[in-house]
Amino acid sequence: MRIIALFLAIASFAFAEEQTLSIIKPDAVEHHKIGEITEYLENGGLKVVATKMVRLTTEQAKAFYAVHKDKAFYADLVKFMTSGPVLVQVLEGSDAVAVNRQIIGSASEPGTIRADFGTDVQRNAVHGSDSVDNAKKEIAFFFKTEEIFSY
Ligand code: CDP
Ligand code: MG
Repeated sequence: MRIIALFLAIASFAFAEEQTLSIIKPDAVEHHKIGEITEYLENGGLKVVATKMVRLTTEQAKAFYAVHKDKAFYADLVKFMTSGPVLVQVLEGSDAVAVNRQIIGSASEPGTIRADFGTDVQRNAVHGSDSVDNAKKEIAFFFKTEEIFSY
């Protein structure tokens, strides 16, 4: 019994189900890429358990990106993020935070979202939480518990 319990403890650690926050940014929404980007996420093993379209207020964008408030790009980033509607999603899966960041990738990695749908360093198609702690905060920023589903 102890061995089984130990195995389950290790397995639950190794294959931890996580949730992360994704934002399909105004550039990608404007370019009609919601479907294709969501396909990359789902094909990568992530499940969409909550979704909604919102237009961020300046206050919301400032608060969401507060960690960057002293950066030169902050004001422009806030302007960009409020320039049109975005699609916010909660993604769930094993190791979801890291898996999502891999699927997002970067401009120099063909086959990733930012390489295939991004335009430049600012208009890079998507946001993805960068840690489990931040994912929890960012999910709570946009969603009530009852707006997140299990299936
Ligand atoms: O989104 P990610 O966590 O990969 O990057 P970040 O360094 O946390 O920056 C947040 C967002 O700011 C980026 O996704 C870009 O949209 C924007 N940014 C920018 O406009 N100019 C930069 N030099 C760097 C980032
Ligand atoms: Mg970041």
